Amino acid sequence: MAGGSGSELLSRIATGDGHGENSSYFEGWKAYDMNPFDLDHNRDGVIQMGLAENQLSLDLIEEWSMSHPEASICTPQGASQFRRIANFQDYHGLPEFREAMAKFMGQVRGGKVTFDPDRVVMCGGATGAQDTLAFCLADPGDAYLVPTPYYAAFDRDCCWRSGIKLLPIECHSSNGFALTEDALVQAYEGARAQGVRVKGVLITNPSNPLGTVLSRSTLAMLAEFATARRVHLICDEIYAGSVFAKPDFVSIAEVVAERGGDVPGGCNRDLVHIAYSLSKDFGLPGFRVGVIYSYNDAVVSCARKMSSFGLVSSQTQFFLARMLSDGEFMARFLAESARRLARRHERFTSGLREVGITCLEGNAGLFSWMDLRGMLRDRTPEAELELWRVIIHEVKLNVSPGTSFHCGEPGWFRVCHANMDDETLEVALERIHSFVREHHQRQRQQQQKAKAKRWAARGPLHLSLPRRGAAAASHLALSSPLALMSPQSPMVR
Ligand SMILES: Cc1ncc(COP(=O)(O)O)c(C=O)c1O
Repeated sequence: MAGGSGSELLSRIATGDGHGENSSYFEGWKAYDMNPFDLDHNRDGVIQMGLAENQLSLDLIEEWSMSHPEASICTPQGASQFRRIANFQDYHGLPEFREAMAKFMGQVRGGKVTFDPDRVVMCGGATGAQDTLAFCLADPGDAYLVPTPYYAAFDRDCCWRSGIKLLPIECHSSNGFALTEDALVQAYEGARAQGVRVKGVLITNPSNPLGTVLSRSTLAMLAEFATARRVHLICDEIYAGSVFAKPDFVSIAEVVAERGGDVPGGCNRDLVHIAYSLSKDFGLPGFRVGVIYSYNDAVVSCARKMSSFGLVSSQTQFFLARMLSDGEFMARFLAESARRLARRHERFTSGLREVGITCLEGNAGLFSWMDLRGMLRDRTPEAELELWRVIIHEVKLNVSPGTSFHCGEPGWFRVCHANMDDETLEVALERIHSFVREHHQRQRQQQQKAKAKRWAARGPLHLSLPRRGAAAASHLALSSPLALMSPQSPMVR
């Protein structure tokens, strides 16, 4: 290929590092790529636990597609539609696709709200949706406030092209990383004090990486805050259909339906925007089907024009229009997917509990937020990365460290467990068990050594022992570490 990568030839955005690919967090992915685990051919490889991918229910979609050949324009049953679909390029999208998507979005939210097909804007996944929303809502230098920890790629999706920044709303483990009004106001005032214009609050509900849902009261607080300050509320609900236990998922759409009118404490619906995609709930990230659902007419209109840059292929729209509008199949799929996610989550977290490792209590998503604070050398980000490197290179699990999600408390790790089969999960658990046991043994030995050193530093001791043992004990070299060990010491055994 001719030409170099000289920064003077390209734009500042193109040569900047807004993509994040050079981040040190890619170390885990590189380790996996160089030595991927395979049950049959490479059992010593790295297991991929850094990928929030749902592979647990793809068989149901495969079955549906086999029994509905008319949903594909490349089968004898669907071929009559080939020309119409192959020529379709309207950026409004196939009407049947938008209708089916709107209906499905309501079904995922338990039928408690309805969505208007005319507000559904197509995007290249939720990734494209965030890029487009940032383009529509903010100018370079403006900011969104985001509760921590948050999905790492938001830094790329929201900021790279638009030039906006993300400012953290600090959340803490002491209350399960709940988002409080105090923390929100503090972040807002902090940004304003620095002269930064806040244009939005960005939330992910259910949360990646926490695997928890936001309560109705938190959502109402956010809507009130956005309305009072005239800032946007951008809600990523990509895991809406991946909630597998109580409490139920509450969509921001429910809050808009309840408070969107002209009511006291109401919410200005023009400020509310939802990002959704089929990447997680269906496990179809390759289809690149994302959606912006905005209550603001001007945003819908602008985002629709922008969507020309990331349209969903008409063939994919055609297929999905049929599948999503099969209400009976969708209900079965959602129920079965939740059951499988719950079972996987329970197996993983109970497996961790066997060696004393706990996770934040979660009820959604494709991962667990694992607490390894007790295994850190000290409570610093450096110590977290040190432990992470051991987990990648020695335990051979590619998990994601909390700092990559901007978590302010070192020692938390996101572990994905829906992107593998049962057997691989058991191998991963076995590795974690051995690692934790060895770690505890090493810790005990180090503590004993340190204790022995402390005693030795005190010099020889004179004990007053009962007469019978005195003679034997008198010449015991108590400065020797071995002499200080109890019979239960693992080193003695
Ligand atoms: C919270 C969140 N938003 C957006 C995305 C990107 O999804 P998509 O594949 O639809 O672009 C992900 C993927 O991991 C995610 O976890």
